[in-house]
Amino acid sequence: MKFGYFDDPNKEYVITSYKTPYPWINYLGNKDFFSIISNTAGGYSFFRDARLRRLTRFRYNNVPLDDGGKYFYINDNGSVWSPGWKPVKAEVENYSCRHGMGYTVIGSEKDNLRAEVLYFVPVGDTCEVQRVSLRNTGKLPKRFRLFSFVEWCLWNANDDMTNFQRNFSTGEVEIENGVMYHKTEYRERRNHYAFYSVNTPVKGFDTDREAFLGIYNGFDHPDAVFSGNPGNTVAHGWSPVASHCVEIDLEPGEEKNLVFVLGYIENPEKEKFIAPKVINKERAKTMIARYDNNYKVEIAFRELKEYWDRQLSVIKLDHPDPRLSRMVNIWNPYQCMVTYNMSRSASYFESGIGRGMGFRDSNQDLAGYVQMIAPQAKKRIIDIASTQLADGSAYHQYQPLTKRGNAEIGGNFNDDPLWLIFGVATYIKETGDWSLLDERVPFDNNPDNAASLFEHLRLSFMHVVNNLGPHKLPLIGRADWNDCLNLNCFSSNPDESFQTTENQKGGVAESVFIAAMFVLYGADFVKMALKRDETGLAAEAQKHIDEMVEAVKNHGWDGNWFLRAYDYYGKKVGSRECEEGKIFIETQGMCIMAGLGLDDDKALEALASVNKYLACDYGIVLNNPAFTKYYLNLGEISSYPEGYKENAGVFCHNNPWVIIAETLTGNGHRAYDYYSRITPSYLEEISELHKTEPYVYSQMIAGKDAFTPGEAKNSWLTGAAAWCMYAVTQYILGVRPDYEGLMIDPCIPHEWNGFTVTRKFRGAVYRIEFLNPVHRTKGSWEITVDGKRLESNILPLFPEGTEHNVKVII
Ligand code: BGC
Ligand code: NOJ
Repeated sequence: MKFGYFDDPNKEYVITSYKTPYPWINYLGNKDFFSIISNTAGGYSFFRDARLRRLTRFRYNNVPLDDGGKYFYINDNGSVWSPGWKPVKAEVENYSCRHGMGYTVIGSEKDNLRAEVLYFVPVGDTCEVQRVSLRNTGKLPKRFRLFSFVEWCLWNANDDMTNFQRNFSTGEVEIENGVMYHKTEYRERRNHYAFYSVNTPVKGFDTDREAFLGIYNGFDHPDAVFSGNPGNTVAHGWSPVASHCVEIDLEPGEEKNLVFVLGYIENPEKEKFIAPKVINKERAKTMIARYDNNYKVEIAFRELKEYWDRQLSVIKLDHPDPRLSRMVNIWNPYQCMVTYNMSRSASYFESGIGRGMGFRDSNQDLAGYVQMIAPQAKKRIIDIASTQLADGSAYHQYQPLTKRGNAEIGGNFNDDPLWLIFGVATYIKETGDWSLLDERVPFDNNPDNAASLFEHLRLSFMHVVNNLGPHKLPLIGRADWNDCLNLNCFSSNPDESFQTTENQKGGVAESVFIAAMFVLYGADFVKMALKRDETGLAAEAQKHIDEMVEAVKNHGWDGNWFLRAYDYYGKKVGSRECEEGKIFIETQGMCIMAGLGLDDDKALEALASVNKYLACDYGIVLNNPAFTKYYLNLGEISSYPEGYKENAGVFCHNNPWVIIAETLTGNGHRAYDYYSRITPSYLEEISELHKTEPYVYSQMIAGKDAFTPGEAKNSWLTGAAAWCMYAVTQYILGVRPDYEGLMIDPCIPHEWNGFTVTRKFRGAVYRIEFLNPVHRTKGSWEITVDGKRLESNILPLFPEGTEHNVKVII
């Protein structure tokens, strides 16, 4: 069952039924000011950091779901309703929510009145603009009242939800000319306030929540709205809110637009006040003036659209299947940009107060957006590398505001350092900018202890070499990519976190997954060393890699698939010898990506095992059989019920590894089949089961052993976004940035006749037409560039701004 449809020309998903199986959200903002908005106008805003600078309040896991947001109410002669259906939930007609690139439009109709709200954050500004369009569709004049509503958060979202003994006494506001200013804590240590304005005179306002709603009412039944009369209240403590009341007259057919601005302002210390207790509103007024009529809003909105058109012009696919094209052209890169902005902080599954930026997550996210924002990717790499420790190990997370490693979360996830090599390699392949390796980057943010980024990578590489176990495989440390494979944790205390609790020393737990990563990204390190004429170092590194290949050959193969790990005691994990969890997905994907098993039949055999034991209708599950009980020596993985999360859920992040592996063995049919099982646009028809948005990937889809197979959770902030973008564009469609140029290497279902990819790469534009006249899935190619036959499959580099026609006959 569908709840809307894709509008590809407008790059929108249009939700036509407000009762989606879960709130379907969108993100507004690109730089400093961000909002999350659901299809019924739920959500919240923050400045930079969802924890420390939360502007409006949101209650996670609330009853009812998704209550609290940027609400509008209409009181049309006693008939009260909301254009987004919620919060009033009165019957409305022609409801639609258009989630677009950085904007959302929600509207509906009732009693011959159409009300539509456009929400967006202008490019480069620190506010959310809300344009309310009201049209009289009837034959009689109309007079009605419109109420706006936001609830302020007292800045620190964690404190705001816990420290009521203090918070109920701190709230402060100011009101001037219908603009409501939220200035809690501004008089002491804060240099910032927020405001909410409208570009028309108001009938009244409210800033005291209890007065506006009535103490025992929910958002669905505010007293002020139902009575039609705002109380002009001034909040002192408790819960300050901001609500305007505007009276509107509309002739038949007439339309009016109102512009509301929710802004965030910072003032220098000396300019905070203009009189005792009176805040300096100059910057707010200037901001309000930037959007005080519809024309200005239109211009700002157009700028936003142009911004996104530019971002999305880097890779353009023309393919007969719209489900594929819309992912590659619109939604997948869009989601990747959201992961750039949010990392894993704020979604409808991440509370914004929990996780910092992951060391490994951020390096992988990069692979999904580097082609759009290379300079930011470079900065991000330097931020990440600056938290690395001098022995090559890494903090598992760092905090976005301070950019410092998070000591509370700790480190020792032994895959982390290698992801830095992946991030850097991905950046260089895209940009050709080798100078990144020469950047001086501190260790642990200490400027007195710095080295070239290349040296950081050497330490990452050597960190593995220096931490090998008895099978000459890498010691796993706290865990590897799979955060829940806690082989040294042995936690029996429910009050401990599997992620941070002190590990038991003295074990020998080794990871075949890290071994494969080492072989794969070690090869990039060798290339970089050679590029810098460090031939001795390159040869030494190659020797370590060759030894690792041997170690995997000798100790990493289980007969029909790659082993996953050895536990604390040296016992196999992910082996047919195990009672449960006999086979794991991660090593099948990563080993084959590293080329292991490609020179004999092991890769094919491993992939056949994946197909037999792990693949299901909804994707490839993480392990099989699922763990049905808790294993002290395995940790969090066995804490999840069967079929969910890391215990045999379809963990979408790692499915692309198998997809890539399939392309490396030439099975384009299976690669695409697996892709389509987890890609949201292909799941639109089963939205009632899938539950999460049909336009973005979810971290997990419940696997075959789950109670509800196919039900997804944790949409938006997942490494699946980057890896799916990477797999589909570089390995299925086969347009792959490499050090020397753009490599052409498609692997597709044989039925495909052809497709075209237009790719911007290092300044030039390549229009690449693929033809598949004899219906192959992979093979040798006949490539012509501007009519001239090319001998290799690496397209040459061209001067900035030039355009080239490439024809590829498979
Ligand atoms: C989740 C993992 C996550 C980890 C760290 C675990 O509870 O299952 O997916 O990586 O927490 O936040
Ligand atoms: C989510 C985490 O963000 C990521 O770092 C990890 O690799 C996966 N879970 C798998 O555990």
